[in-house]
Amino acid sequence: MKDIVIALAKGRLAELSIEVFEKIGIDCSQMKEKTRKLIFENEELGLKFIMVKATDVATYVEYGAADIGIVGSDVLIEEGRNLYEMVNLGFGKCKVAVAGPASMAGRLSGGNNIRVATKYPHIARDYFEFKKGQTIEIIKLNGSIELAPLVGLSDVIVDIVESGKTLAENGLVVLEDITDISARLVVNRVSMKMEKERILDIVSKIKAEIAARGDRA
Ligand code: PRP
Repeated sequence: MKDIVIALAKGRLAELSIEVFEKIGIDCSQMKEKTRKLIFENEELGLKFIMVKATDVATYVEYGAADIGIVGSDVLIEEGRNLYEMVNLGFGKCKVAVAGPASMAGRLSGGNNIRVATKYPHIARDYFEFKKGQTIEIIKLNGSIELAPLVGLSDVIVDIVESGKTLAENGLVVLEDITDISARLVVNRVSMKMEKERILDIVSKIKAEIAARGDRA
């Protein structure tokens, strides 16, 4: 029997995902130990967990290197991957927002050409150019996005806001909300045909666990 491969996003999302897998009776104790290992096998259940960078989860699933993945909806919106989105897990909640110095509030409209630093060029372009009709120049960064307006690299940023702490500690504010984000369970399209029963068994147990959490999620 082929292993079902599950891709998890290293970090906080993996911790929350592991909690869910344990709740549905899958032992993940090895994965909770501090280790640099990237693959964890559960021979008894025919499962394999792989730990990948958050932005790579959807890639592993789309190409079939993983059958199932748990990934933030920010990555799915940004990359528009060809896969099945099966469950809104309700955790990993945050939002994508436009942020910057409070003084920028009045410049976020029509005719102004502004510079936007972001890890999410598609989300930023879609929001400013297609939804607001505002011309922008995008500066693609890979991290520490909040730094960009502080050193004159950009006017504003488009980034994830979770607690708001990073913005506050850097003297920036949310100027406009773009979209709410949460973790999603995704499935490879071919796996869904070839391993339908085993995948739907896992998916339905996870759905039940998430539903049972209700407002606690
Ligand atoms: C994310 C995001 C913000 C921060 C938001 O960064 O890009 O910087 O978290 O969280 P907060 O609202 O709770 O402060 P991440 O930690 O992923 O680091 P990086 O993007 O700088 O690599």
